[in-house]
Amino acid sequence: MASKGNGKQDLPPYFNIDPGFAAKRLSDPIETARFAKAAAFATRGRDDLARRGYAPDGNKRLRKFSIWEITRYLIPVAPAHFRRVLKANPDLPQGDGEAGAKWFTLEEVLAIREHFATEGAAGKAYKSWRPKGLPAKVVAVANFKGGVGKTSTAAHLAMSAALDGYKVLVIDLDSQGSMTSILGGQVEDEWMTAFPLIARDYAKSLKSENEVRESAGQAPYPFDETLTEALEVSPRNLIQETHWPNIDLIGAQLNLYWAEFQVPVWRMQLRSWPLWDALQNALEDGGTLDEYDIVLLDTPPALGYLTINALAAADILLVPLGASFLEFDSTGRFFDMIYSTFASIEEGENRVRRRDGLPEMRFEWDAVRAIITRFDAAQQADLANVIQAYFGDFMTAYRQELTAMVGQAGEQVSGIYETDYRDFNRETYVRGRETFDGTWAEVKSLILGSWWRDLKMEDAGKEEA
Ligand SMILES: Nc1ncnc2c1ncn2[C@@H]1O[C@H](COP(=O)(O)OP(=O)(O)O)[C@@H](O)[C@H]1O
Ligand SMILES: [Mg+2]
Repeated sequence: MASKGNGKQDLPPYFNIDPGFAAKRLSDPIETARFAKAAAFATRGRDDLARRGYAPDGNKRLRKFSIWEITRYLIPVAPAHFRRVLKANPDLPQGDGEAGAKWFTLEEVLAIREHFATEGAAGKAYKSWRPKGLPAKVVAVANFKGGVGKTSTAAHLAMSAALDGYKVLVIDLDSQGSMTSILGGQVEDEWMTAFPLIARDYAKSLKSENEVRESAGQAPYPFDETLTEALEVSPRNLIQETHWPNIDLIGAQLNLYWAEFQVPVWRMQLRSWPLWDALQNALEDGGTLDEYDIVLLDTPPALGYLTINALAAADILLVPLGASFLEFDSTGRFFDMIYSTFASIEEGENRVRRRDGLPEMRFEWDAVRAIITRFDAAQQADLANVIQAYFGDFMTAYRQELTAMVGQAGEQVSGIYETDYRDFNRETYVRGRETFDGTWAEVKSLILGSWWRDLKMEDAGKEEA
């Protein structure tokens, strides 16, 4: 065989593979049990790697924020004024570090912001607006394609909202659990994920169906112990704190995927169970929507039952896609699938409701926006413009740029807001940060706009009454 200078041999055409020889090298056909062995080995290997220090540190800590950063991004005052105010108010957090370079925790930043909001210049907005008495806005990030930036978008939105002082709940509905690891969550099994919220909803439906059956003298459907336990579940039992003082999490892990098998079985047992409403009901009944300002749902790359629940619970739906032919094409089909799924739910429900003389139902979203992610203006401007033209107002004009900082932050599984800007050239940092600040600006405007609209509707309702 010819040899190259680098010592590697040139491969012959089609590699001259002899089928008989290839067959000899195969092991016997694989049986199911072999996977158990592979899994057991992987577990041992995992522990080995963890002992050698390869596992991510389970305890994430949020870094501190400098005066440069605080006055540039978080509290709109001049650095000198900021220092003067701290000096004049010794009760306020004074920060850590040397005189010229003080650093503050996010809790401290939020406390200082509160001070500016009450004592600072009137007419200057130090705090983000949030109407009292209205429920949290639920934002779902979904697309049935993987790798389009769902988790990155959702994670950065959660962090931006937290920096703005909002109280955020993140629910990870993807059994891959990327969002959970970004937020440092620990999840033992499916009973610590959103799964029991769905089980609870089914159990409640089944229980009331059984009450009807019993009063009609019919035998009740079986109600097992798991369902009895599920009745006691509340989001409160599932929510964990994160290293962000104002971001909480309902995490995910692999077993959450079980929901995709269990939900259709339950639905077969009880055709009248509105399975798409399970998450929404759990958030409403548990008081969660009153406790938080913003609830962010990260979804798996599929239009399965978990995603359907996320879409039904969402006020605002974001659909990230890259400016490429394939991602545009599949996003179009994703919209088509949403249409047929929800139209058929509406049709089925309304048939029953008309029969029973009840008002019809329909799904409604405050806003839906496709958003271009990982945008490379030098290569993709044409494609993005065409996509923009076809999606029209279903798409944000803003494009989330490709930034090396996410790649780097991504490998450490953390967000841009968590990385220390001193690790980067200042300009790279500022640009990278703008990418996600811009995404938040778009979404924040949708959130505030729909809160405002709700408020006006509520007022109009009161006047009528
Ligand atoms: N704006 C961006 N710039 C650069 N890389 C990005 C950006 N957004 C996402 N990525 C990278 O793209 C990959 C897929 O993103 P991810 O959010 O996990 O997608 P999904 O949740 O849709 O599967 C990740 O490696 C992530 O770091
Ligand atoms: Mg994801």
